[in-house]
Amino acid sequence: MNTPAAFSPVQQPRRVERIITGQPTSDGAGVKLTRVLTHDLQQRLDPFLMLDNFASDDPDDYGAGFPDHPHRGFETVTYMIAGRMRHKDSAGHEGLLQNGGVQWMTAGRGLIHSEMPEQEAGVMEGFQLWLNLPGKDKLCPPWYRDIQSAEIPEFVTPDGVTVRVIAGESRGAGGPVPGAMHRPASAYPTDPLYLDLHFPAAAAAPAAFSQPLPASRNAFIYVYRGAVEVVDANGGAMPVPLHRMAILANEGDGVLLRAAGSVPARALLIAGQPLGEPIAQYGPFVMNTREQLMQAVEDFQAGRLV
Ligand code: FE2
Repeated sequence: MNTPAAFSPVQQPRRVERIITGQPTSDGAGVKLTRVLTHDLQQRLDPFLMLDNFASDDPDDYGAGFPDHPHRGFETVTYMIAGRMRHKDSAGHEGLLQNGGVQWMTAGRGLIHSEMPEQEAGVMEGFQLWLNLPGKDKLCPPWYRDIQSAEIPEFVTPDGVTVRVIAGESRGAGGPVPGAMHRPASAYPTDPLYLDLHFPAAAAAPAAFSQPLPASRNAFIYVYRGAVEVVDANGGAMPVPLHRMAILANEGDGVLLRAAGSVPARALLIAGQPLGEPIAQYGPFVMNTREQLMQAVEDFQAGRLV
């Protein structure tokens, strides 16, 4: 860890546009989870298609995992907070995702994979984010990378906020995405930002964190410990409670978050440049048109997603 130098502060922080409560659901072979970013928000939060939060200490909730299933046309980003997940795909790749690590998978033209918990007890907690690919890249070769926790840049701000940079850049620290990806930065017109922020318990002077962000980026936060406040350009503070997502208005020059409440807080800050393309989804396939979806289903049924 290191403490980076001061940086230009945010002058006009974004206000909260809307607070969202996730929907309890199940996926895979009955894994209980909360779908935070749901289908109806895909246009608003373009290029992000989905965010699931799974968190349970009951193996009955997660033990059956996500057996073989296909994907095409986007990327999945799985971030483990606690527990272990083993993944295998139809191209013969296999890896183990562990506490604090990230799997970044480019489904591209398609693959079939499984994501299975590798534990029979204890807490299983994490997130899966779906990031859309531009139409021109939807049929690119599939690829994945396991990014271990130690490879994720982490620093502490002078306010005491721990920042983990999974994608994008914060105060000079660049995340493994897109830097260490198979696709060059130019292949990410979405310029994804994915930060995990850990705030100390609010005290007399609550810890604050600011992140410059162009107004064109769609952005949201999701609180998974404690509570935080989103401070706006007028000095107003909107509380964002535990397990809520706050969609941030496309305005100003950045984001200003502040610890709230008496316990430490943790939140994800996720942002990206919208693609502005049509979104056509059928389950695990996300393309631009209905015809492309029908082709995806046909290719899957014909065994061509390998
Ligand atoms: Fe999957």
